Amino acid sequence: MTINKVYNIDCLVGLKKMKDESVDLIFTDPPYFQYRAKNVKGLKNHKDVVTEFEFDLYKTEEEYLAFLEEVVAECFRVAKPGAAGYLFCGDDFVSYINKIIEKTGFQFRKVIHWHKTNPFPAIYTRKMYSNSMELIVHFSKGTPKTWNHKEVNKMHNFIETPICMGKERKSHKTQKPLKVCIPFIEISSNEGDLILDPFMGSGSTAVAAQKLGRNYIGFERSKEYCDIIKERLRELDGN
Ligand SMILES: C[S@@+](CC[C@H](N)C(=O)[O-])C[C@H]1O[C@@H](n2cnc3c(N)ncnc32)[C@H](O)[C@@H]1O
Repeated sequence: MTINKVYNIDCLVGLKKMKDESVDLIFTDPPYFQYRAKNVKGLKNHKDVVTEFEFDLYKTEEEYLAFLEEVVAECFRVAKPGAAGYLFCGDDFVSYINKIIEKTGFQFRKVIHWHKTNPFPAIYTRKMYSNSMELIVHFSKGTPKTWNHKEVNKMHNFIETPICMGKERKSHKTQKPLKVCIPFIEISSNEGDLILDPFMGSGSTAVAAQKLGRNYIGFERSKEYCDIIKERLRELDGN
């Protein structure tokens, strides 16, 4: 497989073509499973609390978790010893993700909290708090081989930024801000390292990697999102 490329294919197909122990860092944001949120009692319409994404395809929790486990197991195979991983997830799934991380051979290290300063507001009739937190599970294949420690006040398991806005914002509903991606990539990889993202979305991992002099490889099933990735990488090259 070629590096510095995002393949428009299913990640399980792509991952199976990758060599063992070839990746320095995994940085990824898998599709969600929102069935639980849909079942919050006392709401007239689950759309009150759930934004539906076209890429949430799983019918049952078991099907979703089995898929994630297969992806994480492949990530373990392609990770070099000491490679780190970061995986975004919602608060309702973090304990399941941690179990998958450990079952597949990775070591769980920490949950990082991303506070969104401009979340979709809580509306009175929903009787729910606004969803202003996203979690990022940090894990590694054994002891991390790279740990570029910053000033102590930049090493908290908490980060606060707005969701993507302005020029950075593309038409992907769950685009992650570069301000969230970059600090963790800097800490857990070095220039020239290879970063894997099986779920590239709008390509935030690839853009962050290119900005930081890292290499990337990834997969994205949607052609529409692959076009956004190409556009973002072209903009970065100044073309
Ligand atoms: C949560 S989004 C990632 C957003 C990304 N972090 C960003 O900043 O734009 C998950 C992405 O995974 C893609 N996806 C879902 N299942 C996939 C699969 N089996 N293989 C490859 N891509 C998949 C979806 O199309 C979606 O764009």
